[in-house]
Amino acid sequence: MTLPRNVSLFEAGARDGLQNEAQDVPTAVRVELIQRLARTGLTRIEAGSFVSPKWVPKMADTAEVHASLEHGAGVTYPVLTPNMKGLEGALACGAKEIGVFGAASEGFTKANTNCTIAESMARARPVAEAALAQGVAVRGYISVAMGCPFDGETAPEMVADLARELHGMGCYEISLGDTIGVGTPGKARAMIEACAKEVPLQALALHFHDTYGQALANLLACLEMGVATVDASVAGLGGCPYAPGATGNVATEDVVYMLHGMGVETGIDLDSLVETAWFISDYLGRPPVSRVANALGGKGRTAA
Ligand code: HMG
Ligand code: MG
Repeated sequence: MTLPRNVSLFEAGARDGLQNEAQDVPTAVRVELIQRLARTGLTRIEAGSFVSPKWVPKMADTAEVHASLEHGAGVTYPVLTPNMKGLEGALACGAKEIGVFGAASEGFTKANTNCTIAESMARARPVAEAALAQGVAVRGYISVAMGCPFDGETAPEMVADLARELHGMGCYEISLGDTIGVGTPGKARAMIEACAKEVPLQALALHFHDTYGQALANLLACLEMGVATVDASVAGLGGCPYAPGATGNVATEDVVYMLHGMGVETGIDLDSLVETAWFISDYLGRPPVSRVANALGGKGRTAA
């Protein structure tokens, strides 16, 4: 067991969370959320995506959001870019980091990006090349890494092949997405074992949705193998518009509570994170799904 001493948290709530919210969240509220997240000590806070507004209408104001943020030292605000048009939007607003994304099943790739896996990689390659040429960092995502709502089981080798390809394109980190939260610790370990044969462990990130309540157990199983980066969403926001039944990412405050309890450092202030979880939940008119946010911040409160 080699639990890392420090874990880097990548905050996805303002993108992965809010892209799937039923109600409209005004630009000013998304900006306020991101700025509050930056004050908790988080250093990578996904701000949105430059995707087709017909496909994901909730992210249509990403340029405005990005332009409104305080771009101080030490915090980056990555954005997703599925194609060259998306990259143009990201470069125009001065993004320092972009994300290219693929999926480990044909069914999900078609539903999410209207193409085959091979086409999605062929699309991602020039995006990554052009971004890197401009000094913009590139992160890669692999969806349905432990199971697909359309095609069923995902083989770890399939995920590992894509991880190698994305790493070869210059992605500094590959985020392994259990999009529908179906994984269990043994499956998560098998996925990491397969990926670690193709890319360095330090280049892997865990992006687990908590649909079946397995995310913390799956994270711990992978952290014990030496992975040291975790994607999470404040208040457990979100889901995926192209994954029927998927709920949000594991809540950031649940992950931070677990890590601090084990003596693992994150650089994040848990109290301020819990306050931020309540800030967005109050706006949405419901309590956070996070157990920690309810335990630490829920006393005497009801969502507006
Ligand atoms: P398409 O319809 O095949 O694309 O969509 P197209 O090239 O034929 O273009 C159609 C229209 O979209 C055109 O406009 C384009 O200009 C426009 P029209 O002429 O009809 O008015 N368009 C764009 N507009 C803005 N920005 C762009 C862009 N590209 C084309 N970048 C496409 C293909 C990839 C664009 C579409 O399928 C799409 O936008 N998909 C994104 C889906 C998405 O954002 N999913 C959620 C993010 S991934 C995720 O959540 C998983 C993750 O969290 C990990 C995990 O949990 O698994 C990362
Ligand atoms: Mg996701």
